[in-house]
Amino acid sequence: MHITVIGTGYVGLVSGAGLADFGLQVICVDQDKDKIKRLKKGEIPFYEPGLEELVAKNVKNGRLSFTTDMKTSVRQSLVIFIAVGTPDDGQGQPDLSQVEAVARELAEAIDDYKVIVIKSTVPVGTNRWIKEVISAAGGKKGIKVDVVSNPEFLREGAAIEDFMRPNRVVLGSDSAEALAVVKDIYRPLYLIETPFVITGMETAELIKYASNAFLATKISFINEVANLCEKVGADVHHVARAMGLDGRIGPKFLHPGPGYGGSCFPKDTLALAHLGRKLGSPLSIVEAVIEVNRRQRARMVNKIETALGSLKGKTVGVLGLTFKPNTSDVRESPAIDIVRILLEKGAKVKAYDPAGVDEFKKAVTGRNLSFCQDAYEAAKGADALVFLTEWNELRNLDLKKLRKIIAQPLILDLRNIYDSGKMRELGYTYIGVGRGI
Ligand code: UDX
Repeated sequence: MHITVIGTGYVGLVSGAGLADFGLQVICVDQDKDKIKRLKKGEIPFYEPGLEELVAKNVKNGRLSFTTDMKTSVRQSLVIFIAVGTPDDGQGQPDLSQVEAVARELAEAIDDYKVIVIKSTVPVGTNRWIKEVISAAGGKKGIKVDVVSNPEFLREGAAIEDFMRPNRVVLGSDSAEALAVVKDIYRPLYLIETPFVITGMETAELIKYASNAFLATKISFINEVANLCEKVGADVHHVARAMGLDGRIGPKFLHPGPGYGGSCFPKDTLALAHLGRKLGSPLSIVEAVIEVNRRQRARMVNKIETALGSLKGKTVGVLGLTFKPNTSDVRESPAIDIVRILLEKGAKVKAYDPAGVDEFKKAVTGRNLSFCQDAYEAAKGADALVFLTEWNELRNLDLKKLRKIIAQPLILDLRNIYDSGKMRELGYTYIGVGRGI
């Protein structure tokens, strides 16, 4: 069976390579000529562990190819996955222009029965709208078209594992025929007993938003508890661990820090809150989650400022710029807001990240912002060293060496990756998140 995947971002490229690895013939389409040229040469446009190898393997065995020619590719395929971006439109709603453009192009291109699978995260009702647009065009040509909503839950940095071993697969459609086709595509997942949730389009769309909003809720919840821990002299890690041991709560997503970022949580929480307001069914908890996350970033700068007395003229080493480890993605990264405010308040920032510097440079610039080759260079002569992302390579720094080159032994570990007792033994003033006073 031939499959076309439209969009070669995280979701599209991982899905395309993953489906090819399932043994299917996959053509990945993108309108960005340069991106396709690079992909044909084996260059991956972003950092995702294992993806380069997976793409190379499936290109070599002839199951994966790349093109800008959507029409030809669509005509060769029974199933078309749409995995284009739905970024925030700046007003807190997803910008659907890419999805709409693809739907209209598909309506033009189709020449036979097609199953359109929507992987892009789209507001409730969008799948039905896409079905209507393409069916209307198909109807004029006497062609039937079906749509299946298939939200993607993969995490950046663990995308391949999440695609190959998902916790669940959600399929929403009103066509039994289309559902059978898509279930067949995912047949390898039946062997590992992946649960399938088969439902309607609107329900499938809402599952994605509700899941992400709930995970974001756990994060904002533990961040507020961490703030309270600081006031009362409690340790948030013990609180979170004990909470997580209750099977009804679960241990994951209770790690405090500078707040959630990335391409999903900030956008999806805003979109869900907006939908609730629009339909007169407000999601007050989600509204609060968004506000707590916004405040958490400013709170982190206050922590640094309080520790240093004033930020004016101070040098701050910043370790980690991406919104989480194992990605080059800095979209909505807490580091963007935190570094910006540090610069605004007169600090000099020396930053280091193992993979995110190029992307970060596009988001923040400043006379007082410089980038370093490693963590030690960022620490050299710094009045404070701030950990913003928990990259593995930042977890095991030579702390004695660091102590000699830093101007003031002040560490703000905003991901709580170091042992506070050990740090104090080594002579550092150590400040974490939610770990006592
Ligand atoms: C998320 C969802 O996990 C995924 O299912 C969905 O499809 C897309 O959004 P991703 O954005 O790649 O995936 O990253 P994730 O690992 O979920 O982390 C999101 C943010 O939350 C990061 O900024 C991370 O640092 C933060 N986080 C996560 C915390 O601050 N504390 C935690 O305990 C967990």
